[in-house]
Amino acid sequence: MSTQTGSSKPAKITTQTVVEMKHRGEKISMLTAYDFTMAQIVDQAGIEIILVGDSASNVMAGHETTVPMTLDHMIYHTSCVVRGVDRALVIADLPFMSYQVTPKEALISAGRMMKEAGAHAVKLEGGKPIINTVKKIVDAGIPVMGHLGLTPQSIYKFGTYKVRAQEEEEADSLIADAKLLEEAGCFAIVLEKIPAKLAAIVTAEISIPTIGIGAGVDCDGQVLVIHDMLGMNKGFNPRFLRRYADIHSVMTGAIEQYIKDVKDKDFPNQDEQYGA
Ligand code: KIV
Repeated sequence: MSTQTGSSKPAKITTQTVVEMKHRGEKISMLTAYDFTMAQIVDQAGIEIILVGDSASNVMAGHETTVPMTLDHMIYHTSCVVRGVDRALVIADLPFMSYQVTPKEALISAGRMMKEAGAHAVKLEGGKPIINTVKKIVDAGIPVMGHLGLTPQSIYKFGTYKVRAQEEEEADSLIADAKLLEEAGCFAIVLEKIPAKLAAIVTAEISIPTIGIGAGVDCDGQVLVIHDMLGMNKGFNPRFLRRYADIHSVMTGAIEQYIKDVKDKDFPNQDEQYGA
């Protein structure tokens, strides 16, 4: 992927760019997006990475978990996002059961995501059990981002969305998993909902970037779900979430005003309709 076009187009962010950012000590910003318009706004604002997360299952489709998401759903959302992006690195989640059965099936899923959706990389949840799968995908030339800590596709195994790896045994195995993912060829790892001190240790012990969500300030970068950080979901209030806007109120106000204007015959006015 070229990084400098010589035209007025911005230099594209690549997997190498984000690894170099870690080595320069420059923090990496990542947000989710699931559709063309949102992706355009996020990209033009200057984000480095857009994640087409399987959180689309929650915020776009209204499911309670990410489990129902299919590869076809994710390919659809990713292709919409890719069409809206000029600069950011677009990473797509491989959904539950599209990579867990065999490394061969995982490679076929990752290949479809790259060829049909135009993703630049894929993200997979898990450590040791998926190492051979990660190697197979990376060996085929597809960049892989790992995901450790709270891995929502395993919600029925965990039983809860609470903070992971608070006990020494789980913390040690998370550190070991991060090293295995790095050795297998991952270019970055998401650390979700783990103690900040543990995230700092992982970040110091591997040479690829860590991107945290509920994992403290020492990660090499941060990610949030766009609907959450824009204040579109009033009911979701985890400790790690900072709201940067109250879009729920802005939208509600605009819609209420529109309804009133229609009822009052104030909309459309003379300038908003066509003559004979
Ligand atoms: O699906 C998603 O949005 C994610 C992020 C929360 C990291 O995996």
